[in-house]
Amino acid sequence: MRNTRILNQHWWFQEGEHVVESFADLSGLANIEIPHNAKDTPFNYFDESMLHRSFTYHHIISCDQNMLHDTQVINFEGVLANAVVYVNGQKCTSHSDGYTPFDAVISRYLTLGDNLITVTIDGAENEEIPPFGGAIDYICYPGIYRNVSLTSYNAVRIQNVKASASDVLNTPSLQVTTRLQYFSSFNSALSVLVELLDPQNKIKAYSNFTVNNGETIFSLDFDNLTDIELWDTENPVLYQVRVTIVDPNIKDIFVAKFGFRDINFSPDGFYLNGKRLQLVGVNRHQSYPYVGYAMGERAQRLDADIIRNEYGFNMVRTSHYPQAPCFLDRCDELGLLVFEEIPGWQHIGDKAWQQRSLDNVKAMIERDWNHACIVIWGVRINESEDNSEFYQQSNALARELDDTRPTGGVRCIENSEFLEDVYTMNDFILGDGEQVLRDPRQVTGLDHDVPYLVTEYAGHMYPTKRYDCEAWQSEHVMRHLRVLNASLADKRISGAISWCLFDYNTHRDFGSGDKVCYHGISDMFRIPKFAADVYGSQLDPHIKPVLSPVTYWTRGERPEAATLPLIILTNCDRVEIKIGDSKSAFFYPDKKNFAHLSHPPIIIDHNNVGDFPLGGWGYAWSDVEFRGYCGQQVIISKLLSSSPIPSHLNVELQTTVLKAHCADSARVVIKALDQHGQILPYLDDILNVSTSDNLQLLGPSQLVLKGGAIGFWVRAYEAGEASICIDSQSFASKTLFLKVLD
Ligand code: GAL
Repeated sequence: MRNTRILNQHWWFQEGEHVVESFADLSGLANIEIPHNAKDTPFNYFDESMLHRSFTYHHIISCDQNMLHDTQVINFEGVLANAVVYVNGQKCTSHSDGYTPFDAVISRYLTLGDNLITVTIDGAENEEIPPFGGAIDYICYPGIYRNVSLTSYNAVRIQNVKASASDVLNTPSLQVTTRLQYFSSFNSALSVLVELLDPQNKIKAYSNFTVNNGETIFSLDFDNLTDIELWDTENPVLYQVRVTIVDPNIKDIFVAKFGFRDINFSPDGFYLNGKRLQLVGVNRHQSYPYVGYAMGERAQRLDADIIRNEYGFNMVRTSHYPQAPCFLDRCDELGLLVFEEIPGWQHIGDKAWQQRSLDNVKAMIERDWNHACIVIWGVRINESEDNSEFYQQSNALARELDDTRPTGGVRCIENSEFLEDVYTMNDFILGDGEQVLRDPRQVTGLDHDVPYLVTEYAGHMYPTKRYDCEAWQSEHVMRHLRVLNASLADKRISGAISWCLFDYNTHRDFGSGDKVCYHGISDMFRIPKFAADVYGSQLDPHIKPVLSPVTYWTRGERPEAATLPLIILTNCDRVEIKIGDSKSAFFYPDKKNFAHLSHPPIIIDHNNVGDFPLGGWGYAWSDVEFRGYCGQQVIISKLLSSSPIPSHLNVELQTTVLKAHCADSARVVIKALDQHGQILPYLDDILNVSTSDNLQLLGPSQLVLKGGAIGFWVRAYEAGEASICIDSQSFASKTLFLKVLD
């Protein structure tokens, strides 16, 4: 019977490449837990070459007779990069890619008692391995940064299962394809049970059958299924297939979640279950401050929640590599559509490099083909030149592996060879001029329309820090508004995916000189900038009312002491503004300039301000109140002070319960607020953070508020009571209490 245990605890770690055979060699080495970042990075201003080294991990596996009798397989979900696995000093396997999983079948190297597993990795950006070989605008953090598990199998295992639903809008059917792997010769037929489980985990259909001796791949169809609930963005219903080997000698089970949904990219847009759905997306890197890629499930899932629930996006692109399975699981659960792509950034290497990239296409698709959320495979190296032969192969391979999803391949050049099913383009045309997005035919160079998706915009065209001045924030917001509106205006454009979710660390060749690209709609701690409200304000006001005046409400923040134009991002029908004792005035969404948005912003400027005293130099500065209406009702209001005083240190703790020893972490967001609960954007308070011994603070213990706010994560180790203490100069100390469970 398959028996899996997570192998994240009790690893030894050292810099350099050290394949040792004796346990004595481990004495004195650092004891660490997986997920692990080989080299922590400062928040900014670091020398990325410190990551370009080799590192070694060791772990001891104790084997009894039963384990020796069965087949032992270690699964690595993500190791960057060029991992080589040794057992008792003998090389067992290697895997060069840093983003896809691999197995090490270790049985034949094992002996009774303790066995030493050694994994060497190389952070050197070896140009033989994608994405390396050219410049890259992000950091590739070395480490064993996703889960490791050990599974005991009998002579045969179910290696993978693919659930492909078809004709779901008429007569749904499901094909379940199973692949077996034989570890040792096995000379008899196997009895297999395939079950379809409904969302309540009840068996909806099943079939028993026999697999002939030695057969590795078999398919089974469930036809004419009735009462199937479709997976969609609003109601993401998930089913499961369960495949079980029920032989007296061999037992194994494999469960895969999937959804019944119909997807179609056509020249007039994207259709989900037969209905046109405009894609509004964001690009996500998988990095976090200080610890790079090494974050556990709760942190990964939080990103998906922020994207879907706080900002209201319906699509995310996993720029520029396959991301954590737990992130994709959350996208499945949230109804968040995914564009997943292979590792790469502009550079294409030689034939051997290209073959590795094709291996990545296969590994990505075979890992993720059951995710309902994934609606397109990215099979080009992001923004690379055309390469007919390579990309014909990557497309053919993707289609052969999965004929239920279209291919895309992200480019930034016009008239590129169209080999994919969807023409996907990074469109950064918006600068100071009038053109907001290119016409799809201008991009494709074709005389007819084809399925078309904008995969990046904004980003480096207008880098913005969360604490940049108000005038800069307004322009940042305006650019996001304009592209979003333009993408909605042209029905040939399936949607647009903005660059990007949060600021990220990068190489010296990019960013603001401090190794950060300030391209996010939120900062590295996922604390939103004003531009995030461009998207959040498109949500249904009954789900989440949004009222975000893009202002710090000061007399002299902007050049020439201007207050106009004032953008208000809101999903309210109208906003009433009252300044001090003046009479209030109503302002309305700008339906003329932003006709395609569900909730256009309100823009107050010299055309519509009339004699309302918003602006004008020289009068007394007063508090302002914004009241947002839906119909006759005020659903949200905001009071901005004319004289903000530090009044409250707001601390949001993501959860008070963590799990021990599994990289479980809680995010803490700290905001300095004034007497009306508004952030104090220029308060540079210094904080001292300390934690109980069973928590690790990820990052330094002395923090400075940036733009009135800062974040950090704490990671749980031993079970028990836990606490976080925050001391500040301007506010009273705060202590937060958590529980870490076994
Ligand atoms: C694109 C690239 C992204 C990022 C972005 C910055 O060219 O695909 O990875 O670098 O520019 O705006």
